[in-house]
Order: sequence, then C-alpha cells, then structure tokens
Amino acid sequence: MSSKLEIKALQKSYSQGNTCLRVLEAIDFTVGQGEFVCLLGSSGSGKSTLLRMIAGFETPDSGEIVLDGQPVTGPTAKRIMVFQDFNQLFPWKTVLENVVFPLKMKRIGASDRERRAMAAVYLAMVKLEGCEQCYPHQLSGGMKQKAAIARALALQPELLLMDEPFGSLDAQTREVLQQTLVKVWQDTGVTIVFVTHDIQEAVILADRIVILSKNNHRIREIVQNTLNRPRDPGDPLFPKMWQEVYGMLDATE
Ligand SMILES: Nc1ncnc2c1ncn2[C@@H]1O[C@H](COP(=O)(O)OP(=O)(O)OP(=O)(O)O)[C@@H](O)[C@H]1O
Ligand SMILES: [Mg+2]
Repeated sequence: MSSKLEIKALQKSYSQGNTCLRVLEAIDFTVGQGEFVCLLGSSGSGKSTLLRMIAGFETPDSGEIVLDGQPVTGPTAKRIMVFQDFNQLFPWKTVLENVVFPLKMKRIGASDRERRAMAAVYLAMVKLEGCEQCYPHQLSGGMKQKAAIARALALQPELLLMDEPFGSLDAQTREVLQQTLVKVWQDTGVTIVFVTHDIQEAVILADRIVILSKNNHRIREIVQNTLNRPRDPGDPLFPKMWQEVYGMLDATE
C-alpha cells in the first residue's frame, strides 16, 4: 500500500500561563491510500490536536506532515474535517443545499443542476434520501452527522478527518452510523483518519489503530486490526481484538 499521508517526528506543546504543556512528541506513522486509521487514546492524549495539525488548522512545533508528497502548510479542501458537534450544517439551508453550497464555492460541477445531482448521490450513499428538502432542525443528531459526512464526501477530499463524529449519539444509532461509514468508505475508496476514545468503535472501523499515550505523549503502539469485514461485536474473535487494544491502553493510562 503506497503512503498517502506521512507524519514525521511531530512535536507539539502549548503554553499555558508560564508553563509549557507538552502534548505530542516523536509522533511517526504513515497512512496508506484508501486506508482507515483510528487514533485512539484517553482524554487529553492529543488526538484532536494531532487531527487539527493534519487538517492544517494548527502548526507543529517541529516535524512534518506530508500528503501526497506535499508538505501540509494550511487547510485546503483536500482535507475535510467532520466534528462531533451536531451543529455543523447551515441551519437556514435545506440538507440538499447544505451539500450543494460548498460544491459551488469550490467550483465543482458545471451547473447548479449538476451539483444538485452530485449532492443527491452522496445523500443517498449515507441513506438520507427523502430528507433532501428538510432543514437541519428537522433532523435527529444521527441524521445531521450523516448530512455532514455527505457534504464532506461530495467535495471528494483526499483525506477525510473525523473527530469523534458519533461521540454524542446513543449506542444503537452509533452502530448504524459506523456500518454506514464503513460502506461509504468501501464505495468511495476515501482515506480516513478517525479519532475516537471508544475501543469498540476503533475495532469495528479501523484497518490500523494508532494508540496515543497521555503519559509520555508518544505513540504507545500501532495495532493491525486482523478481523475480517464486515465486523460484528458478536464475532467470537471480536473480544480478543478488543482485549489486545485495551491491554495497550491499560498499560499506560
Ligand atoms: N489551543 C490550546 N491551548 C492550550 N492547550 C490546549 C489547546 N488545545 C488542546 N490543549 C491541551 O492539549 C492537551 C490535548 O488536548 P486534545 O484536545 O488534543 O486531547 P484529546 O485526546 O482530543 O482529548 P478528548 O478525548 O478529551 O477530546 C490537553 O491537555 C488540552 O488541555
Ligand atoms: Mg478530542
């Protein structure tokens, strides 16, 4: 698998008053083209900080982030982020218009008609057909997240960055959206870096799990997920994988 994203010797601290808060140190890993990688770690281990740097919203103190051979120096539409917050959509636009608007801004599609057709394809992919004319306030949290994912995918990003997008959903809705996301990932071939602190979520979604340690600010381990897809927590091999990952967290947190 060729390297899509390379994270090299990344280091990041924040100044808090007179003190320097070390967050990430010697972070090195790669993400392959079309790979699904989860960043897993306890609260404060630097997952969101790392994702924001990959997005180009923040700069590392030292080290390098390279996407398709080019250093990341700021945000671009090649790297689109989906957040946990349900209020990512424009409340005054319909679901369809929410997906069409960024396409128009990025001059994707030759006409409004073509953009609306493109938007409808991605909304169908996340199973939101029939909701195109709804406004965000008419949607459940899960539906809002699906719309946010469709909007991100419609821009055909090189990298989809997701920061606990299902973190505020109930367990059942979360499972449904995980399955939808895996299907969308398989259908589009998009490369995904997904932040979670939920072991089960990482085991269901990821090809590889990058485990961050809050104690030394480094990568504790990169675990290859050996479970076949489609994944099911009822699979007798599932608890073994879960346990392996849990053991890595337990040793450091
Ligand atoms: N802009 C900032 N200024 C100062 N400190 C920050 C800033 N952003 C994050 N931090 C600190 O960096 C550390 C890592 O934060 P980060 O949000 O990356 O963790 P996280 O792993 O995403 O946690 P959570 O699971 O709770 O979302 C925390 O101690 C946090 O307080
Ligand atoms: Mg976070």
